[in-house]
Amino acid sequence: MRGVPFMFVATSVLFVTVGMIWGIVMSASGDHTLAPAHAHLNLLGWVTMALFGIYYHLVPVAAGRMLAKIHYAVATLGVIIIVPGIVMAMQQNGEALAKAGSLLTVASMLIFLFTVIRDRKP
Ligand code: HEM
Repeated sequence: MRGVPFMFVATSVLFVTVGMIWGIVMSASGDHTLAPAHAHLNLLGWVTMALFGIYYHLVPVAAGRMLAKIHYAVATLGVIIIVPGIVMAMQQNGEALAKAGSLLTVASMLIFLFTVIRDRKP
């Protein structure tokens, strides 16, 4: 695996490693307050990103496009912004970051929707 599929999968593994350590810290401390942010890191950062990577591995023509690189940048930035955004929102420290991360995350999924439709076989 190389290129965009590798980037998606490698980044997803990095995200879930951080997410698991976060989960262990929550368990050990008994403080589960930030569980929703942990869940979003794991579900958007690990599950969703890894699925994108597997798709691009299975559909090399999609992985070769510039749009795939843009998709990777938007999806990664979305996770990096939405997770601390959720933490801030939960701690009543403002919702701007969560909103920005949400928009990037939905933009990433719209790029993927466009890509999947574009790659359909007649
Ligand atoms: C070492 C691995 C992990 C540990 C130790 C861990 C630990 C935890 C803990 C302590 C909670 C709070 C439970 C509660 O308050 O009821 C939690 C919630 C959650 N975790 Fe994890 N977790 C791990 C990995 C994952 C992964 C890989 C995913 C998803 C792919 C995930 C998804 C969730 C979800 C959806 C919740 C519920 C969030 C909520 O109630 O708002 N976790 N986890």
